[in-house]
Amino acid sequence: MTLRSVVTGVGHYLPSRVVPNSAFEATLDTTDEWIRSRSGIERRHFAEKGETTSQMGTAAAQNALEMAGIGPDDLDAIIVATSTADLTFPSAATMVQSALGMTRGFAFDVQAVCAGFVYALGNANALIVSGQARRVLVVGAETFSRIMDWTDRSTCVLFGDGAGALVLEAQEGAGGSDDRGILAVDLHSDGAHRDLLYVDGGVSTGTTGYLRMQGNQVFRHAVEKLAQTAETAMERAGVGAGDVDWVVPHQANIRIIQGTAKKMGVPMERVVVTVQDHGNTSAASIPLALSVGHARGQIKRGDLIVTEAIGGGLAWGAVVLRW
Ligand code: UT7
Repeated sequence: MTLRSVVTGVGHYLPSRVVPNSAFEATLDTTDEWIRSRSGIERRHFAEKGETTSQMGTAAAQNALEMAGIGPDDLDAIIVATSTADLTFPSAATMVQSALGMTRGFAFDVQAVCAGFVYALGNANALIVSGQARRVLVVGAETFSRIMDWTDRSTCVLFGDGAGALVLEAQEGAGGSDDRGILAVDLHSDGAHRDLLYVDGGVSTGTTGYLRMQGNQVFRHAVEKLAQTAETAMERAGVGAGDVDWVVPHQANIRIIQGTAKKMGVPMERVVVTVQDHGNTSAASIPLALSVGHARGQIKRGDLIVTEAIGGGLAWGAVVLRW
């Protein structure tokens, strides 16, 4: 028998303020048409003033716990994937822990920017299969609206805020690709490309800073690296493109999503797409898409899912799991 990390709950939270592309036309030299055609984004949610990453993460977590049918003290650990924690420290995860009323276990953040959720899943899986935790809450939550330069049309129209969460639980599997749960993880980073996507502030500058991105350079890396990591993870899981029920990609750009699916040999009918409604929510985009895909009735128990993401670092990776 093999220990598997099985999804028993999923949930999400989106702030109520929805901003359409046309809202940027008044202040920037941009158009709804440019944003739609270059990125696939039509609208995004922005947090209200005072609404924080940990609050959104907590709301998503409560929904996931409800679906799992467990309380906060049934969890052994919380991992929050975020680059926009409320404060430099403590971690957003400890804030979520306290807001949920969890009085035991441990909580920490994972910071791998847009790849954060696949990194967090990899870490949660390692805790579970090594026997260090039986139930882990994995949250992706971001308020990228707080690190936008609103005068930079090449970045500020692309990002949004939100949160998603999964509950993972240790269950015995037979050891094959028919098992439910995480079947394979593949993670990479290459700091040589750190200047392509970064925030120009932090502890060393004494400022929060703003996101800076050479979008077309990131784009160039994205499709190739995403298809490669997805294929590696699928090979490790012992599955092929024909076995995949859903690709649930990081939602940065519809053209990257389409290019990667094509390279993977998976038709777009089997890709969960939310980028039009959420924009790029960084580490929150995959759990948001999983939760929305589940709520839409697309993702069902037993489905084989491939998630993949790339972002600042560069950091990238993929996870293959059976729902
Ligand atoms: O999630 C983390 C990883 N990030 C990503 O995956 C993002 C990857 N990159 C992208 O999604 C795309 O590169 C963008 C959507 C950011 C840009 O699309 P692109 O087709 O690569 O355009 P570009 O950056 O090559 O820019 C084309 C033109 C430029 O004008 P010139 O130099 O050709 O005159 C830009 O100045 O589009 C211009 N431009 C805009 N025009 C209208 C850039 N932003 C805008 C805008 N409205 N908002």
